[in-house]
Amino acid sequence: MNNFIFQNSTKAVFGKGCVKEYLACFTRKMCKTDTVMLAYGGGSIKSNGVYEDIMAALEKSGKTVVEFPGIMSNPTYAKVLEGAKLACENHAGLILGVGGGSVMDCCKAISLAAVYEGDIWSDFWARLGVIDFEPLPLCVVVTAAGTGSEMNGGAVITNEEVKLKTGRDYPQLNPKFALMDPTYTFSVPVRQMISGGFDTLSHIMETYFSEPDEPNVSDDIMEALMRSTIRDLRAAIKNPQDYTARSNLMWEAAMAENRIIKLGKKCDFECHQMEHQLGAYTNCNHGEGLAVLHPVYYRHICKAGAPKFARFATEVWGISAEGKSTIELAKAGVEALADFIKEMGLPATLRELGVDERIDLKVIAESCACVPGAYKAMTHEEILEIFKECL
Ligand code: NZQ
Ligand code: ZN
Repeated sequence: MNNFIFQNSTKAVFGKGCVKEYLACFTRKMCKTDTVMLAYGGGSIKSNGVYEDIMAALEKSGKTVVEFPGIMSNPTYAKVLEGAKLACENHAGLILGVGGGSVMDCCKAISLAAVYEGDIWSDFWARLGVIDFEPLPLCVVVTAAGTGSEMNGGAVITNEEVKLKTGRDYPQLNPKFALMDPTYTFSVPVRQMISGGFDTLSHIMETYFSEPDEPNVSDDIMEALMRSTIRDLRAAIKNPQDYTARSNLMWEAAMAENRIIKLGKKCDFECHQMEHQLGAYTNCNHGEGLAVLHPVYYRHICKAGAPKFARFATEVWGISAEGKSTIELAKAGVEALADFIKEMGLPATLRELGVDERIDLKVIAESCACVPGAYKAMTHEEILEIFKECL
């Protein structure tokens, strides 16, 4: 194991009915002014009953509510600034983000921008900054599982002006508490449920396929998490109202990104770098973009990490090692992943994402960061090859 320091400051409250039980009390405790800013997305919370639960709890808390709706998927920096302005004008003492990764990420950036005098993009996203002050407190109610944003300080923001989609993880941006009622995810469209589930799987794989490869508890936990995510996605597709499957998917998403599995690991996340830039240029769905990229990327790095990909084949997909060389087994693992992507009905090509030759893939490839944790370091030329193979 590599050295690490571990802390996770988010209080996770999990289970059916948790919003009704805890939100009013937590709000009273966390909000130091009279006003809570309630932030949400395009309106799903108004058609599935979540909004009523939230408003009832906030009324019980005795706080005034100012609403900040319309946070879009792949949230923009402009939306962050709009939210920060509203929070300041209304002296909000707490931001309550209700939604999936996009709402949670946008709210994290708002919690910083609302108290910072400078430009948060240039000081905290364009480069890594130091947060030596208290952001506005943030609490979240998760309505879509996948990103795991609820239990980390990560916020992925798209700056449309410079065409960059950048994620930063500042522990100070961890939500103070995260309420996770799996029944709130029942209304997520199946396509988004699968995309979120694949995002979870991707987070685990991006961590698993990195050194160290000597026996370590993080890799062991990840194998169990990957098997469970695959099992629970299959069950949730059969029956989206399956509480067992949906509650597992919700906690698997949090486990994949609450930093526990990353302990002692280098982490890869090149696939995320590529997907984020595809997103910056095309606004594609995050989990679906990852589904297109992963098998192709892994065919490129499989040889360099062959023993680990072989272990993935046997431990995650149950492929027999008998009669196979390490590289044959490794390749079988990657193809099992590609088959699973097809089985889930996820897109397998960029064309299916609406990306075609009219988009300059070279420009996108050159805008991607090449990260150091992978089995094989990428170059911009190789990223372009990957994009072309994905077409
Ligand atoms: O906006 P509304 O109307 O709420 O609809 C949303 C949206 O259309 C809908 N939805 C959410 N909960 C629902 C629901 N529809 C019905 N019933 C519900 N209960 O789902 C759609 C997608 O939501 P969104 O939040 O955009 O999806 P996701 O959770 O996949 O988040 C994606 C964003 O998170 C970033 C991605 O890059 C992307 O910007 N990520 C954040 C990470 C982090 N902070 O740690 C890590 C990830 O790797 C990822 O990069
Ligand atoms: Zn992701």
